[in-house]
Amino acid sequence: MSDESKYILQVKDLHTSFFTENGEVKAVNGISFNLEAGKTLGIVGESGSGKSVTAYSIMQILASAGKITGGEVLYKGEDITKWNEKKMEKFRGEKISIIFQDPMTSLNPVFTVGYQLVEAVLLHTDKTRKEAEARAIEMLTLVGVNEPESRVKQYPHELSGGMRQRVMIAMALCCEPDILIADEPTTALDVTIQAQILELMQELQKKLGMAIIMVTHDLGVIASMCDEIMVMYGGRVCERGVADDIFYRPAHSYTKGLLRSIPTASNMNEKLVPIGGTPINLLNMPEGCAFCPRCQDAMKICLTKKPDELRISDSHLASCWMNVKALYESQEGAEA
Ligand SMILES: Nc1ncnc2c1ncn2[C@@H]1O[C@H](COP(=O)(O)OP(=O)(O)OP(=O)(O)O)[C@@H](O)[C@H]1O
Ligand SMILES: [Mg+2]
Repeated sequence: MSDESKYILQVKDLHTSFFTENGEVKAVNGISFNLEAGKTLGIVGESGSGKSVTAYSIMQILASAGKITGGEVLYKGEDITKWNEKKMEKFRGEKISIIFQDPMTSLNPVFTVGYQLVEAVLLHTDKTRKEAEARAIEMLTLVGVNEPESRVKQYPHELSGGMRQRVMIAMALCCEPDILIADEPTTALDVTIQAQILELMQELQKKLGMAIIMVTHDLGVIASMCDEIMVMYGGRVCERGVADDIFYRPAHSYTKGLLRSIPTASNMNEKLVPIGGTPINLLNMPEGCAFCPRCQDAMKICLTKKPDELRISDSHLASCWMNVKALYESQEGAEA
């Protein structure tokens, strides 16, 4: 197997903008990543860092002002940004699905849960109505909805938040997609239900062999379940690596700030420190590093030149001039 063919999804230098009355909002500015079949990628970053826009760009479900302005999204090697809406419609639901933060975004309040599940199955498979009804019950059982035979007759507002989220997962998985994008799937839920839903997603991943992109602003949520974590800021990737790289060897000032601002096992007795400053203005992206105006360690070069991604280890990459400086100094030290 060639190195590239193990990836079910590859995003290459993706750029997405919103063309608004105030100008071009550059929400995604050159994101790249590879996703292997059956693996989980976590995307983390503060509000407005471009996580959802990245997800919506892959699905091609952007608001009308939004447009992919550059880059490629390859599904099994084929660039889906070149596909027409008809082909994309078939692709969504059959091969790739999304779970939204708010279940009411994708559940229609005027139709019963059963009707919506059955319609999704009918749309994307060649099953008969009877088979689709059986599939709906089967999926609800799979995601842990009790008494599925009576649940199918209920409307979304008759279910609890946790139940609605389970129904959404059932809906996203009813056609057994290769890729599931979960955009903050548990943020609206309390901690116990949150843990149950995440566990359920992992179980289903094992059973169905799908790849997951887990989008969240909560580092804690993804620590245990991701094969790789990508940290975003200002529509760019700051750093990527396995959980140990990100939690124990953070190599970007933004990641370090993020870790100081949330409770973790290693800072339990320390005071939490929020990241100072305000998020960047995407209408006016800085020339250099996007995080520079808020970075305590910023140097002159950070203002004017965007840092390239530097490999720190086999699994770990970061885009921060501090690493270039450290590398340079260690080489100088070795030569002296
Ligand atoms: N429809 C839109 N029109 C104009 N700008 C938009 C639109 N949708 C998103 N944006 C811009 O894109 C930026 C990134 O938004 P995105 O929703 O991807 O953030 P996010 O990382 O998902 O944040 P959150 O954690 O709050 O969900 C926003 O700051 C906003 O400025
Ligand atoms: Mg979002």
